[in-house]
Amino acid sequence: MRKKIVAGNWKMNTTLQEGIALASDLKNALAGKKVNCDVVVCTPFISVAAVAEAVKGSIIGVGAEDCSAQDKGAFTGEVSASMIASTGAKYVILGHSERRQYHGENNALLIQKLQQALANGLTPIFCVGEIKEERESNTFKSVIEGQMAALYTLSAEDFGKCVIAYEPVWAIGTGLTATSAQAEEVHAFIRASIAEKYNKTVADNTSILYGGSCKGSNAPELFAQPDIDGGLIGGAALKADTFMPIIEAWK
Ligand code: 13P
Repeated sequence: MRKKIVAGNWKMNTTLQEGIALASDLKNALAGKKVNCDVVVCTPFISVAAVAEAVKGSIIGVGAEDCSAQDKGAFTGEVSASMIASTGAKYVILGHSERRQYHGENNALLIQKLQQALANGLTPIFCVGEIKEERESNTFKSVIEGQMAALYTLSAEDFGKCVIAYEPVWAIGTGLTATSAQAEEVHAFIRASIAEKYNKTVADNTSILYGGSCKGSNAPELFAQPDIDGGLIGGAALKADTFMPIIEAWK
């Protein structure tokens, strides 16, 4: 069956020292606790290696927030999936709405990034989600289906290695959480789409996380929905004190 996952996305918020301190705080907070989900932190490139080192011996998995679409070579400033994997990191967020919005990431590019991630043994956390206008015009399902098309270029085997995050853009960092019913509607829609594209087993085995102003106070209700398998957390992942209650929402 599919995994339950609570993953942090630190975005561009932590220096190297702050990242190590946050990872250590989280490791200490988790020590000796029995948790009922996988725990992941995705950090800025600058701290992936140090965080991977800092969380050794804990259950915390580490990831990056993006990777290059290229394998290696003269691509100044880029970080390849193999470099990320070389730190011990196991995950990479791909297609976050902030990458789509500020860096023009589209399906063609994301297909290459997916291939790089998978070729290097990283688990992609692939983000989809509509903007406010698309929700208001009721076109969000076709928008999400269009974003899923990048994943649908993968074989069933490779698709099965991916985690999906539904992040309605209007709910990110705004304090406006999708209601659990709104989130569940989209998660169920995504799972039905996967079943149609591959089959029911693949759909049932896919972890679909919710992201967008998820916090300790709303996580229990979101995670109680049948098709919500965890969260991708921004702001509330920046302190162990606010991240832990979300992890502990999985009773
Ligand atoms: P917030 O939790 O800050 O709304 O961010 C969500 C997000 O974008 C995670 O990737």
